[in-house]
Amino acid sequence: MQKIVEVLADREALIDRSLAVVLSKITAAIAERGICTVAAAGGSTPEPLYRALSTQDLPWDKIHVFWGDERYVPPEHPDSNQKMARLAWLDRVNIPASNIHPMPTGAADPAADAEAYQTELQQFFKVSEGEFPAIDIILLGIGDDAHTASLFPGTAALQVRDTLVTVGSKDGQPRITFTVPLINKARCVIFMVAGASKQPALAQIFAPAADSTTYPARLVQPEGELWWLLDAAAGVAVK
Ligand code: 6PG
Repeated sequence: MQKIVEVLADREALIDRSLAVVLSKITAAIAERGICTVAAAGGSTPEPLYRALSTQDLPWDKIHVFWGDERYVPPEHPDSNQKMARLAWLDRVNIPASNIHPMPTGAADPAADAEAYQTELQQFFKVSEGEFPAIDIILLGIGDDAHTASLFPGTAALQVRDTLVTVGSKDGQPRITFTVPLINKARCVIFMVAGASKQPALAQIFAPAADSTTYPARLVQPEGELWWLLDAAAGVAVK
């Protein structure tokens, strides 16, 4: 694993830098393999990055978009990560509908939807049971509680090692989420973190020793590159 930590002056600089890194990884993936696979993060931090991506002249037919986690709501629900990414980004670019791979939330059964997404990933990446595909870029954020994706402190999802996708839980509310082993197979994981409220979580994530069940983002140790892009308000915690 190669770890890169950058503290940017403010949120705008964080987004600009995130865009530059994402574009370089997209270009490299397409040059090497003719395709780029990206897993979008939810929450508020990445939204301006998605808007910036929507202004880029990219070979969208060679880019496939997945989600690293999803709230268990319909796609038109205001809390939907899919809705946010479509409004800010995917509805604004000429990307084939078949290149967009949202996490399903329509079965009224989170476990069934998680299994369906796992099957979709296995078929897309042509991997068999027990194999984990290498996604080119996985975008992530962290909560004030050091959760990432929908891997929340003290939840069963943190322990799952035999599937690509599982059911997460936030205060009892179901989520669909990538598992730790799938995230750690990524060629490039990019954390985007902004705001002073993230300082305590970052301090624990970057501490030499801390409990990973309490601070789940510590579990993200990808085989590829690990980027931490922080604004100054959050970044004081790691200096
Ligand atoms: C989600 C996200 C979640 C997010 C963090 C940070 O579904 O909410 O995937 O893991 O990245 O909660 O959210 P902010 O960017 O809003 O701080």
